[in-house]
Amino acid sequence: MVVGAHLTAVTGISVSSPRLRRKGWLMPELHYPSATGNSILSQSELDFSRPVEIAPGVFWVGIYLENDPFQCHPYFINNGSESILIDPGSMLQREDIIRKIEMACDLKDVKYIILHHQDPDLCAAVPYLEKLIDRDDLQIVTHSRMSVLIKHYGLRSSYYNIDENDFQLMAGSRLLHFYTTPYCHSPGAFVTYDQSTKVLFSGDIFGGLEDSWQFLADEHYFAHIEGFHMAYMPSRDILNYALRKIESLDIDLIAPQHGSIIQRKYISGLIEKMKQMECGLYIDRKYSQDLMRTIEKLNNLQTEFEVSLDEIKKLKRNQDGDYFLTTLLMKPLMNEWNLSTKVTTDCVLIQKKAFLFKERFQHLGGDFNMTGQLNFAGQNYVMFFNGDGMGKSMQGAGGALVMGTVLNSLFSRISGQTTIGISPEAWMEETYGEIQTLFLSFDGAMMFSGILGLVNEESGDLIYINAEHPFLVLYRDGRARFLDSELTMRKFGCPSELGFQLQRFQLRPGDVLLAGSDGKDDLNLKPGAAQPEINFDYSLILGLIERSEGKLKKLVKSL
Ligand SMILES: [Fe+2]
Ligand SMILES: [Fe+2]
Repeated sequence: MVVGAHLTAVTGISVSSPRLRRKGWLMPELHYPSATGNSILSQSELDFSRPVEIAPGVFWVGIYLENDPFQCHPYFINNGSESILIDPGSMLQREDIIRKIEMACDLKDVKYIILHHQDPDLCAAVPYLEKLIDRDDLQIVTHSRMSVLIKHYGLRSSYYNIDENDFQLMAGSRLLHFYTTPYCHSPGAFVTYDQSTKVLFSGDIFGGLEDSWQFLADEHYFAHIEGFHMAYMPSRDILNYALRKIESLDIDLIAPQHGSIIQRKYISGLIEKMKQMECGLYIDRKYSQDLMRTIEKLNNLQTEFEVSLDEIKKLKRNQDGDYFLTTLLMKPLMNEWNLSTKVTTDCVLIQKKAFLFKERFQHLGGDFNMTGQLNFAGQNYVMFFNGDGMGKSMQGAGGALVMGTVLNSLFSRISGQTTIGISPEAWMEETYGEIQTLFLSFDGAMMFSGILGLVNEESGDLIYINAEHPFLVLYRDGRARFLDSELTMRKFGCPSELGFQLQRFQLRPGDVLLAGSDGKDDLNLKPGAAQPEINFDYSLILGLIERSEGKLKKLVKSL
């Protein structure tokens, strides 16, 4: 229903304007059960020259401003000597607005002025208003992010910052709740919910831009909301954050600072449409296109990443299969054949590379141990070998496979013989020669460090070679020391000026010899710490051996 006749009484509007007749106020019928007086609830035609009671004790105290699509709306809550003004401060037709407020109350009754954000269309006239109110206890109710800006209007009243007051205000017996709506469209923006009337004072949210302003929103109001929010709200995500808070409230009426008052029946439908609305940065075409391109690139990268990850997983599965096969090949080569009760041997093997295959942890690396018994001219000897292949995991394991194969082959060749027809020294040199020849054929791609030794069961004579392996350690009478004092040979597979260098030592009953591959001089002294502390003390191992009394398993536990 279009009502034009009553407009003659509204301040500042000339009914004689043909443009106004065309664009005038539209006044749909409003149904509200408890209306009294000049209320839109009981009248089909309202007197806009007076405050309009939109809910019990809640008044619209604005004026119609010609040629202003924004239409700023102040509201007044009649609350006796603790009455409340909401967003009253437009400077345009300030006097008329104050007259309208004075029709609703005695200005001296106003104790609170709520300012939903810092814009001049609601704040500029407040210094003038507060002089008229002239109450020492007048308070400006706003957010602390806003009060620091609002003070620049030159206000003298104190501030009631909602974020410092549990987001509520008890004005007499009236309870107002505040809900922050950050960046809609100011950092500290908020809305006010009057619990007793279920009216939401929404500030700029739900505001509408309208050439043909109407007091109450109808089913076409979204078009006006869209125009305002596209321009003034920063983004859909930010607006949706505010809308989600608002839709959780039980609201009968929304009273925005611009546009039209919204009744309950339109609220949920409007919120749903507003959630889908593009606004702010997202309506800038270039930004939107850049954003879409970036999202597309990210999607492509993610797809590529997923494909690569699948390939890596497949390769890893294949690699772990290869690792597992290699560990199977190595198992029969790691032989501890020494059963002597006079010279006993003990081996521990912990490979560096651990991997999961068929739900079981396996280990792979270049370390290799082997022991056995040999007889030279009726004399029993215990043979030991401890070595380490050059390179990590597969490369090292390849070296260990070669070393294991050659040592096992040497052993199987003499296994049928009750005694070996050459001296232990000659056997050592021959053995070295065979290993060296084989590893040299890899032309530097595979080298092996190691200690090969023979101990005479009866006399304790030890002969050994150290092919650039960590020094052999002797534990005797509670003390540990290195048997080697200098590098005597290069690694197996390394062309060397040093050649074959046999070393000798006389063992005594109770002596313990310890041969170990790498891992002792690069120990992390602070396992579990953010920064590892690597040990560079080559002799640290001697102290550890002494503390573990030369017992191998105890020593391994202490590492
Ligand atoms: Fe604003
Ligand atoms: Fe505004």
